[in-house]
Amino acid sequence: MPSAVRYGIIGAGAVADFHHVPGILLDPRSSLTAICDPNQALLDQRQSEWGPLKAFTDYRQLAADPDVDAVIIATPNFLHREQALECARHGKHVMCEKPLGLNFQESAEMYRAARDAGVRHMTAFTYRFAPSMRYVRHLVKTGLLGTPRHFRSQRFLDLPETSWGWRQNKQSAGAGDLFDMTIHRIDFAQDLLGPIRTICGAVAQFAPRDRTADGLPCPPSEVDDWSSLIGFFESGAVGVWEGSTLMKGHNNGGVGYEWAEVNCSEGSAAYQLTDPNNIILSRNGRDLEKLPVPSEFLKAPGSPRDPSHGKPSTVFRYDLVYELTSAIIEERDAVPGFHDGALAQAVADSVLISFDQRRWVDIQADLG
Ligand SMILES: NC(=O)c1ccc[n+]([C@@H]2O[C@H](COP(=O)([O-])OP(=O)(O)OC[C@H]3O[C@@H](n4cnc5c(N)ncnc54)[C@H](O)[C@@H]3O)[C@@H](O)[C@H]2O)c1
Repeated sequence: MPSAVRYGIIGAGAVADFHHVPGILLDPRSSLTAICDPNQALLDQRQSEWGPLKAFTDYRQLAADPDVDAVIIATPNFLHREQALECARHGKHVMCEKPLGLNFQESAEMYRAARDAGVRHMTAFTYRFAPSMRYVRHLVKTGLLGTPRHFRSQRFLDLPETSWGWRQNKQSAGAGDLFDMTIHRIDFAQDLLGPIRTICGAVAQFAPRDRTADGLPCPPSEVDDWSSLIGFFESGAVGVWEGSTLMKGHNNGGVGYEWAEVNCSEGSAAYQLTDPNNIILSRNGRDLEKLPVPSEFLKAPGSPRDPSHGKPSTVFRYDLVYELTSAIIEERDAVPGFHDGALAQAVADSVLISFDQRRWVDIQADLG
């Protein structure tokens, strides 16, 4: 019997392999039927790794394929818009990687196209699915910690200072750490505390990245490798974010360092990517302590994933596809949607405007 949701993937690179294919294969309700990538050698490799599949080098063919119900777009950032619009035109449900577009205008257009086509749409904001993040959200939303006052996010990677390929060109990536890493943290901050009203931000670049990993010369990086912002939420709460891909000593087996904390009137809660099945918690003035995340928050409700299997900082990523599959079958919106991707993008764009013009920027995000 064919599965309920047949997936096609555009872009057969790193994130498709790390997050999305395991997520599709884990759930009996979903299957992978087609892939698209202009790199023929990679297509051949993926056919042997992922199973016999339809393979295309032109995304338009995959978007039009009648054997595909839903598409995952996992390509360089500058391709997201045109590929998502094509999928929506063909009535395909679509999950698109972050940043949704190269700027808010693109992202909002993608949202409107998916909405108007009546397809399910999702932005791949991975860290919303981390167990301790899910539990922090529960504690904040149910008021168990009182009124939120401060949000704090630090995301550090210690990556080699060699070329980042497409990620270091403005035309193909839009921005560096800001659009690659900090945008996730802008999203989950808005998910936890509501819309951000105004921000002041900055970016910086320390590594020229003018050599490939093999030591060959290449055009230097045009984008930031450090980004930061401070902001006020509409609720009156305040936030501070910092991200870097060059934080020496924070490699940590490639996972890096991540800490996100909410301080409320009755207590504080913190999530760590490196230890996502535990939470750091304090209530009613007691000291912060590490506690296990309750079992009902270890995975998306109903997910077939066994949370005791695999590396905790990896396996929650498989729940993204579970969410889109569930939304399609249950005929409801997927969370987070394209509008969430666009709203995070509006804040990230404003960081660049703020730094260019050395001023505070009020967030403008009319989705139309
Ligand atoms: N959600 C997350 O946590 C997360 C993690 C990593 C990457 N990402 C995002 O995923 C996207 C891809 O990142 P990646 O690390 O997998 O990059 P990658 O370079 O490993 O893979 C991108 C793939 O897209 C292919 N491609 C290029 N042009 C194409 C076209 N016209 N049609 C089809 N395929 C094409 C490339 O050949 C490559 O195989 C980016 O937007 C990135 O920001 C998100």
